[in-house]
Amino acid sequence: MGVRMLSVLLLLLLLAACASASHHPSSTSSSCPATPPDAGATLQVSHAFGPCSPLGPESAAPSWAGFLADQAARDASRLLYLDSLAVRGRAYAPIASGRQLLQTPTYVVRARLGTPPQQLLLAVDTSNDAAWIPCAGCSGCPTSTPFNPAASSSYRPVPCASPLCGQAPNAACPPANAKACGFSLTYADSSLQAALSQDSLAVAGDVVKAYTFGCLQRATGTAAPPQGLLGLGRGPLSFLSQTKDMYGATFSYCLPGFKSLNFSGTLKLGRAGQPQRIKTTPLLANPHRSSLYYVNMTGVRVGKKVVNIPAAALAFDPATGAGTVLDSGTMFTRLVAPAYVAVRDEVRRRVGAPVSSLGGFDTCFNATAVAWPPVTLLFDGMQVTLPEENVVIHSTYGTTSCLAMAAAPDGVNTVLNVIASMQQQNHRVLFDVPNGRVGFARERCTVA
Ligand SMILES: *[C@@H]1O[C@H](CO)[C@@H](O)[C@H](O)[C@H]1NC(C)=O
Ligand SMILES: *[C@@H]1O[C@H](CO)[C@@H](O)[C@H](O)[C@H]1NC(C)=O
Ligand SMILES: *[C@@H]1O[C@H](CO)[C@@H](O)[C@H](O)[C@H]1NC(C)=O
Repeated sequence: MGVRMLSVLLLLLLLAACASASHHPSSTSSSCPATPPDAGATLQVSHAFGPCSPLGPESAAPSWAGFLADQAARDASRLLYLDSLAVRGRAYAPIASGRQLLQTPTYVVRARLGTPPQQLLLAVDTSNDAAWIPCAGCSGCPTSTPFNPAASSSYRPVPCASPLCGQAPNAACPPANAKACGFSLTYADSSLQAALSQDSLAVAGDVVKAYTFGCLQRATGTAAPPQGLLGLGRGPLSFLSQTKDMYGATFSYCLPGFKSLNFSGTLKLGRAGQPQRIKTTPLLANPHRSSLYYVNMTGVRVGKKVVNIPAAALAFDPATGAGTVLDSGTMFTRLVAPAYVAVRDEVRRRVGAPVSSLGGFDTCFNATAVAWPPVTLLFDGMQVTLPEENVVIHSTYGTTSCLAMAAAPDGVNTVLNVIASMQQQNHRVLFDVPNGRVGFARERCTVA
């Protein structure tokens, strides 16, 4: 057994499956399977918005159309966040006005922090370096189960003199407490204050000693999500960077699809246990968004036809931050308008039925039997043909289905294409930073 392998059972419960008109909201909680305890190298991962979400039923959307609208709005905010990362010095900044300063990404894992260990929920986010934990006494944090530093014998505040303090945004060391490095984020009407801290973090069977995180002490506006954040981005303070000696900056996941109530998959941290034979494309680093996983998408095929996308809509440009990224926190792929329109028009032409729109998606068909063409993403050295389940979102009652992609939202300033979680589901996606490659292989991790 690879000791550096963390197998994570993913439990994905999507509203599209069970928060539809065909379900009574009151019946969903009783149908949620009990969460098995963490055991060995296995952690549960839950979808953040499902009716069985550990964040509570209030995170569920009321209907399929409502879900699509909510998700489109969330994804639009996410794109603005990813876009904002291009601005130097704003790497921790933020989201559109009125939205959370820290976004709630799609997947949540459990971890244990401190001595004795306190159970926490952490959002898995491939595009974030920050590690935030809501802490006891935090004013304005929406969590009901914060981490209590006072109850942990291994908790240490990071002193002001530490070089780590210099890496935190807007670090501030009040004269009254020069032993503790504090820092803050402000955006629109929201702000966060945290103490830079260290403690032992247990993920499945492994322990990360002196894990550095921001212990949230104050949140105003709609700044904070109810859970902590496990940053799997590539930047210096991320979980991936902090565990480089343990996991070699390598991980892979299989995100389960969302067609039934019970789904599972694995997240494997570390070099051991990763697929040996997998098609790969070079991983590109872009100094304008150093946290993000850039790849070189060279085109898109709909059916057998490579659609006509202007080269500028796909070009990787380290001078501007332009290019294509893989992201776990966006649900539906967003392409810049000329690329999206080319793909969408060919899909519409191939389907050949009357088009409607729904909740931010503009290529929906009201028919029970629509022949959707496969969509192939063309990367440098790798082609990924997406089957219908990665291309189409169906209403539960089967009469409406939509192309599960959209154009980049207004307000995004740079050319940024985001390959989102829906398009990655039921694939093994390998992030191999030392070897500079991203791998893709079909893998059925959905448990029906
Ligand atoms: C859902 O998954 C859990 C844990 O893997 C399992 O115990 C339970 O039986 C599953 N429920 C269904 C309906 O498949
Ligand atoms: C879809 O088609 C059915 C049957 O033709 C019709 O009754 C229904 O109103 C249509 N729904 C939408 C959203 O267009
Ligand atoms: C992207 O891939 C194309 C086709 O293989 C290649 O010509 C181009 O140089 C690549 N761009 C980068 C930045 O690697």
